[in-house]
Amino acid sequence: MKKLLSMLLILVMVMSVFAGCSNNADGDDAKSGSTVDIGIVLPTKEEPRWVQDETRFKDALKDTDYNVEILFSQGDSAREKQNVETLIAKGIKILIITPHDGAAAAAAVEAAKEEGITVISYDRLVTNTDAVDYYVTFNSVSVGAAQGQYLVDQLNGATGEKLYLYAGAATDNNAFLFFEGAWAVLQPKIADGTFEVQNSTKAVEYMNKATLTREEMGDIIEQITTDWKPEVAKSKAESHITAAPPAGNTFILAPNDGTARSIYDQFSKEEGLTIYVTGQDAEKPSIQYVIEGKQSMSVLKDVRDLVKGAIATAIDTLEGKTVETNGSYDNGKVDVKAKDIKVITVTQENVKATIIESGYYEASEFTGLE
Ligand code: BGC
Repeated sequence: MKKLLSMLLILVMVMSVFAGCSNNADGDDAKSGSTVDIGIVLPTKEEPRWVQDETRFKDALKDTDYNVEILFSQGDSAREKQNVETLIAKGIKILIITPHDGAAAAAAVEAAKEEGITVISYDRLVTNTDAVDYYVTFNSVSVGAAQGQYLVDQLNGATGEKLYLYAGAATDNNAFLFFEGAWAVLQPKIADGTFEVQNSTKAVEYMNKATLTREEMGDIIEQITTDWKPEVAKSKAESHITAAPPAGNTFILAPNDGTARSIYDQFSKEEGLTIYVTGQDAEKPSIQYVIEGKQSMSVLKDVRDLVKGAIATAIDTLEGKTVETNGSYDNGKVDVKAKDIKVITVTQENVKATIIESGYYEASEFTGLE
């Protein structure tokens, strides 16, 4: 009898350890119950952009009956694959994933697909696989176009204006889309001598080409990539400043807010410059920079809309309804049906209307707002 009791006790202990496992993952969001309906895998906690996506997902999902769990991959494709496997083991029916590396994530989503899970690429496209059902995204070509247009709008008729180009990570399909959008606007002004590219021999080589092939874009991106890392952007900016010193008006295509701030911080150490530098994401520290006239613009990609689009896609699928899409993206293997979401340019002039009055952030989170 005593033996039976102690065996029972051990059994109860083992079971409670297993139950505890479902609650110990990063950012675990699962509601009570052992299975998870929707698994979300985000690329890294190291950038405010993705922490914001987590927060906005949590806000939007507060009142749903579905169990949801959010995991972060910390910029590591192996960890990402593990995250997907963890979620598969928990019985997810929908996987929402922002890949760290678009091509490397193919294996992870294929494993999910084999289990009959619906795969939604979120913001970044998983490439070279037919295992992606939907892509919910901002229109990334238009993000790049907004950045390029901002720089063009600051021209005042002079020629030979110094232009420094930077791009995101070559493993992120978005880096190509952003660059494609920016190039379409900047190229005519490079070709006619208004801008002189300072830091990419490949961009100079292709300056008369209105449209670039993916390979040509890859050649340029390879020279100007920041890998999406502020510290890489910083050291590249330092060496570009030495190799091709800026003077007077300085135009900088920076791909996102994190890199924009660190590139600005380097260039602003030089005397006598008027710096025009782009960004995207409307990260709080960059909104502060825009208010202070440091970073010139950002692109507001309203994460609330992206989250809404992803959740609607997930829930329509779970409930057997037709998913509404309004676009499609070639991922190298198939055309993936997409929900394409609009973006807004933020400058010092409209920051109050676009960011505060829209309810995106609170005025109290910033200083110097008039
Ligand atoms: C996203 C950007 C983000 C960048 C770096 C891109 O795929 O679209 O919003 O700034 O990745 O994380």
